Amino acid sequence: MCGIVGYVGNKNAQDFLISGLKRLEYRGYDSAGIVTLDDAGEATLLRAKGKIVNLEEKLAENKREDKIGIGHTRWATHGEPSETNAHPHQAGDIYLVHNGIIENYKELKEHLTEHEFKSQTDSEVLAALVESFYGGGEYSLVDAVVQALKLVKGTYGIAVISRLNPHEIVVARSGSPLVIGVGHDETLIASDASALVGHTKQAIYLNDGEVALVTSHSVEIKTLNAEPVSAKVEEIETNLAAIQKGGYEHFLLKEIMEQPESLRETLRGRVNATEGTVRLGGPGLTEAQLRKIKHLVIVGCGTAYHAGLMAGYYIEQFTPEITIETVIASEYRYRNAYIPKDSVALIVSQSGETADTLACLREIKKQGVPTIGIVNAIGSTIAREVDGGTYVHVGPEISVASTKAFTSQMIAMVMFGLTIAQAKGVKPSVLRPYVQEIAKLPEVVKETLASVSAEVREVAAKYAEYDHAIYLGRDTAYPAAMEGALKLKEISYVDANAYAFGELKHGPLALVDDRFFEVALLPSGELYDKAVSNVQEVLARGGHILAITNVDRFDLPVENVVKITTELKIFAPVIMNLVMQLLAYYVTVAKGYNVDQPRNLAKSVTVE
Ligand code: AGP
Repeated sequence: MCGIVGYVGNKNAQDFLISGLKRLEYRGYDSAGIVTLDDAGEATLLRAKGKIVNLEEKLAENKREDKIGIGHTRWATHGEPSETNAHPHQAGDIYLVHNGIIENYKELKEHLTEHEFKSQTDSEVLAALVESFYGGGEYSLVDAVVQALKLVKGTYGIAVISRLNPHEIVVARSGSPLVIGVGHDETLIASDASALVGHTKQAIYLNDGEVALVTSHSVEIKTLNAEPVSAKVEEIETNLAAIQKGGYEHFLLKEIMEQPESLRETLRGRVNATEGTVRLGGPGLTEAQLRKIKHLVIVGCGTAYHAGLMAGYYIEQFTPEITIETVIASEYRYRNAYIPKDSVALIVSQSGETADTLACLREIKKQGVPTIGIVNAIGSTIAREVDGGTYVHVGPEISVASTKAFTSQMIAMVMFGLTIAQAKGVKPSVLRPYVQEIAKLPEVVKETLASVSAEVREVAAKYAEYDHAIYLGRDTAYPAAMEGALKLKEISYVDANAYAFGELKHGPLALVDDRFFEVALLPSGELYDKAVSNVQEVLARGGHILAITNVDRFDLPVENVVKITTELKIFAPVIMNLVMQLLAYYVTVAKGYNVDQPRNLAKSVTVE
């Protein structure tokens, strides 16, 4: 999720571009750049790795009075964070900034032989594609952009300028937001309205499939099929914080609610529901290497560890003769653990910078074990040091409590397990149900979030006064219960702990009294009746139970029930986790604590 800005008008373009990028820095930054044009079309291109402040240092020696320009702060998706990979990208006379993923960039690149590629990005391919139509003079800039976008598969929010006409900007969107600020003798472009606050209150929100030709005093919009679109000018929200949170009160709720989109990005181009197959390019293991795998070590901390535990349960369900060990990085790195031959290690980390996980990676590599990263932050240390990997592409996760990354990491690891099973010749009829449910996940997640949020908010109010909680689950719902407990613990400070249902009678049942409430995960299936018996053990001791279930005829005498869809059977615990994410959120809000920055914690634990 990158940030785009553009300016054309009667003021200093560099000033707006930099201030706009700073407003958009929350969208993720690992590099940034701006380009401005003077009246003769002379370009000043400045790019820098890291935070915007690094770009400002370059700007100090390159101040211009230019009145048009575009800028970009990058959350890398293709190509690691570097100055070369930073936007704007140049091709011939044009400069382009892009937010999104061009899925077919490799095929397009093969035909763009005229362009000398400098970066590893899909965005530079798009710039070269526009230039391939614009360079010959056959098409105007806006029509060259249209021709190029007609060939593109994927998502984009773009802004394009040309040295040949330093008075117009072309913008377009499909899947990535873009807003046009209408000012007095100036027009401003941004990925979201937060960059416009203080400059104008009038904004035009571009829609998917629309292209706009923008000057200091005009905005002409059309579709890719050249149908004119009348610009609808709206009043923008002036609350900066509210805009950056997408209108949500906290980043955590925004990140919980954006899981349909973040899951779609994780699955993009990797799942074929019709065939019942998955395809992961990143791990870089051949079919022969995948077939030989006998042992998986899955390494992570906190939520990443829970994602690994849960994925491990699923993988052993459909992959024959494979042993799976999911370990806590901070423990594993000091063990003298033997990793057998024909092993592969999955290194799981949202930030890609967690010190304990990184240390494990380095220890495991010393044993010559192939390491596969399951990482969100592109170009992060772990992502650079693993032998191969699958990026989860969920975009920046700002809230300390990890939510969308958990869901996507877990599914990404299941997909890796499916690639092993495919290579081992597991019958498609065994794998197809998993693939088909995975393909349905984004939509089911969307429907669930829409249907349970208000109910969970109401239920959460009843549990906000508790200081102790027990989370319970069996099988794949047990690691889900662990993740649910961590979520509540780390933001509401409730002493929440998870236990396998079957473990209750071995000790934890002694805890049950009025100080505690219990969250019982009860997915349908062959273990459901066993879990019901466990629930009755808790009820008999006066437990205050919140049940989360996909069983239609649920009639246990628990205090509260949140029903989830019955559409998914295999991945019902993934859907149950959404309820627990929302429960943690609303309990914390009810307690009045800092939802996004809980005490004592940090988003990326780069210390041991
Ligand atoms: C999860 O909500 C926590 N913020 C924390 O446990 C986190 O999952 C852990 O620190 C691992 O972080 P990573 O995924 O960036 O490696």
